[in-house]
Amino acid sequence: MEAKILESENAQLLSEVLEGLSKEQKQLPSKLFYDERGSQLFDDICELDEYYPTRTEIKIMSDNIEEIVSQIGEESLLVELGSGSSTKIRLLIEHLESLAAYVPVDISAEHLHKAADCLKSDYPQLNIFPLAADYTEDFSLPEIPKQYSSIDAFYPGSTIGNFTPEEAKTFLKRIANTCGKGSGLLIGVDLIKDKSILHAAYNDKKNVTAEFNLNMLKHINDLFDADFDRNKFKHHAFFNERHCRIEMHLISTENQIVHIEEHEFKFEKDETILTEYSYKYSLQSFAELVEGIYDVEKVWVDDNKLFSVQFLRAV
Ligand code: AVI
Repeated sequence: MEAKILESENAQLLSEVLEGLSKEQKQLPSKLFYDERGSQLFDDICELDEYYPTRTEIKIMSDNIEEIVSQIGEESLLVELGSGSSTKIRLLIEHLESLAAYVPVDISAEHLHKAADCLKSDYPQLNIFPLAADYTEDFSLPEIPKQYSSIDAFYPGSTIGNFTPEEAKTFLKRIANTCGKGSGLLIGVDLIKDKSILHAAYNDKKNVTAEFNLNMLKHINDLFDADFDRNKFKHHAFFNERHCRIEMHLISTENQIVHIEEHEFKFEKDETILTEYSYKYSLQSFAELVEGIYDVEKVWVDDNKLFSVQFLRAV
């Protein structure tokens, strides 16, 4: 059964890869960053001097934790979308005295249960109901055998920026519907800022981001019968000012042909594969994005206005 699910997931992934590479602007799905090595590299990115989002978001949360927990309210059912942000969720758990239950949602059942076991051993009183689901698709909250007064989702890290604005709206509508009218959403949103800061965050001196980007090619070779040569590609990330987004690409350093299963893809020298968007917002453009789906109740930013943590309420 497990093998069958895996087979069909891989078939779906393969069709996304083939479709993406057949486009005029070749593309690969960003979820392919995250094999075991990719997840480790992402953790390393979060520790880099140049990568301000993680430490800034943690600082904003710790500096304002009393206000944040008062927005969340009493006896909440706290739903975390993507369970990996252990420092951030711990901060909330430690300060939410009457938390009814915690529902981490993650596509990887293995990752989810490991993280839940770890939290359970540190907070034995905590009611945890892990849900293995793809939160970017329709999902239902599990039956909770416990009374709760409100539902509050938590979506840190500015992962919202990895969707296009249209996709982000669809995603937010889905979360608002799943958690219901009046539910809260505590969300991290990265802000538009000086280009040089953004450039450095995605072009770090130690080349960890470059390695993270190139690792996607190895992941594809591991998953499928493919022959990407990572030495014939290089990392390229830049801030696209018109669209307010970082774009990550892999540039082909020569004319070449790559095989994936029985398919062939031609690359011209300097042709790129788009691997990720990371949209940046102003407080106003984000408020416009969520309009009609959520009310923005409260916004916290750091002194340098690099990042924001926002509390939204589903209308
Ligand atoms: C996960 N996501 C919010 C990160 C970002 O900044 O968009 C992924 C990342 N890509 C390169 N560095 C970090």
